[in-house]
Amino acid sequence: MRHRMLGVALGMAVALAACEQQGEGPAEGTDTLDQTADTAAAATLYDRLGGEAAIASVVDTLVALASADTELNFTRQGTANEWEATPENVAIFKTHMVQFVGQATGGPQVYEGRDMAAAHAGMQITDEEFDRLAGHLEAALDAHDVPEAEKQELFAIVETTRSAIVAPADTAAM
Ligand code: HEM
Repeated sequence: MRHRMLGVALGMAVALAACEQQGEGPAEGTDTLDQTADTAAAATLYDRLGGEAAIASVVDTLVALASADTELNFTRQGTANEWEATPENVAIFKTHMVQFVGQATGGPQVYEGRDMAAAHAGMQITDEEFDRLAGHLEAALDAHDVPEAEKQELFAIVETTRSAIVAPADTAAM
């Protein structure tokens, strides 16, 4: 009987030790320097930007800068697709923007908004206005100390949306 109890106690101790080791991450003796290097090489742009919270802060700053720029006409007054910056619309826009950037940079987000052509249809957005918003994005990234390499990677992604967002020349000046 004493032996059986001892056996049970020992079994539990072994199980406990195994649990602890799992929770502790890499077992002792692992070359942590190599691991760090591997992790850095594999880090997505999303992670290097600082994840969802950092992206949300950049989007907040971007929206503030874009809204204050009357020449940009972010709300597209006078076009076929005027947008009302109500608190609800702004909140949806920010959510979709964070999802969009998250998804495009390797984050876990799933973009739930419309595709870029549908979202900007009838807004008569020109190349100059696109560049102006990209300039505000750069200022927002600078305000949040995003390094140059990450900025350039994000600009490359943003650039892929230009042809869907900018209206064809014959309709932009209408
Ligand atoms: C720089 C590249 C741009 C990107 C990546 C981008 C991305 C987006 C995204 C993800 C949405 C949300 C769509 C949805 O909720 O279904 C959106 C909506 C919108 N965008 Fe852009 N956009 C860009 C440029 C612009 C520019 C240059 C303007 C105006 C000057 C603009 C004005 C708007 C407006 C007003 C909305 C709200 C539309 C609505 O909810 O009905 N965007 N954009």
